Amino acid sequence: MKIAVLGTGMVGQALGTKLLELGHEVRMGSRTKDNEKAIEWTKQNPERASQGDFKEAAAFGDLIINANHGDGAIDALTQAGVENLNEKVLIDVSNPLVFTPDTPPSLFVCNTDSLGERIQKAFPQVKVVKSLNTVSAQIMVNPGLLPEDSNIFLCGNDEKAKDEAKKLLIDFGWKNINDLGDITGSRAMEMYLILWIRLMGQFQSPNFNIKIVK
Ligand SMILES: NC(=O)c1ccc[n+]([C@@H]2O[C@H](COP(=O)([O-])OP(=O)(O)OC[C@H]3O[C@@H](n4cnc5c(N)ncnc54)[C@H](OP(=O)(O)O)[C@@H]3O)[C@@H](O)[C@H]2O)c1
Repeated sequence: MKIAVLGTGMVGQALGTKLLELGHEVRMGSRTKDNEKAIEWTKQNPERASQGDFKEAAAFGDLIINANHGDGAIDALTQAGVENLNEKVLIDVSNPLVFTPDTPPSLFVCNTDSLGERIQKAFPQVKVVKSLNTVSAQIMVNPGLLPEDSNIFLCGNDEKAKDEAKKLLIDFGWKNINDLGDITGSRAMEMYLILWIRLMGQFQSPNFNIKIVK
């Protein structure tokens, strides 16, 4: 499958590399055509990897992944162009985190709204599925790094889009996938980040996850 990964950070690189390993063709998108991180990633993965600006990447992908900084997510998708996004599945991995000195991190949208919902409202013809935002980049693509099976979440308004996202999650190694319903489930998935960051500080490591026990 042709997949666009919008974002050049550790998440974009981890997802892009894993998708290549799984046999997909991946184009990494960024704000400029000559993003150094994207060029370097393409050099390291000469087979089936390419890079370009958001528009070029989105035009290439049959499925899109948003792995941008939360604050820049809607701008990045706007640059990608609705004509290159419409009717496609968009897996949104971003978090609306705000880091300010001397105070615990916060979210720029929460409670009665979420970044996942804002993206869906801004691009109504796009099939937004929120997922993977609750674990570190390494765990996203290798849940087996943890000593026990743990849980990953997804939500979105389109059932077929969620099925497509689920297939990728299974290919990444996820066994326990909790569907939280429509895109308003993003509120829960994003607000969990406040606890996640607190735990990461205590563990001094991002490589942990939650396991649902009933
Ligand atoms: N790191 C993790 O383990 C992790 C885990 C779960 C979820 N997430 C979420 O996944 C997303 C990507 O995380 P990340 O750690 O890979 O990197 P990040 O530093 O949060 O985001 C970097 C990417 O965002 C792009 N970007 C686009 N518009 C931007 C803007 N206006 N301001 C700043 N950056 C902008 C950057 O572009 P340039 O290349 O042009 O700088 C870069 O490609 C974030 O939303 C994060 O919250 C991260």
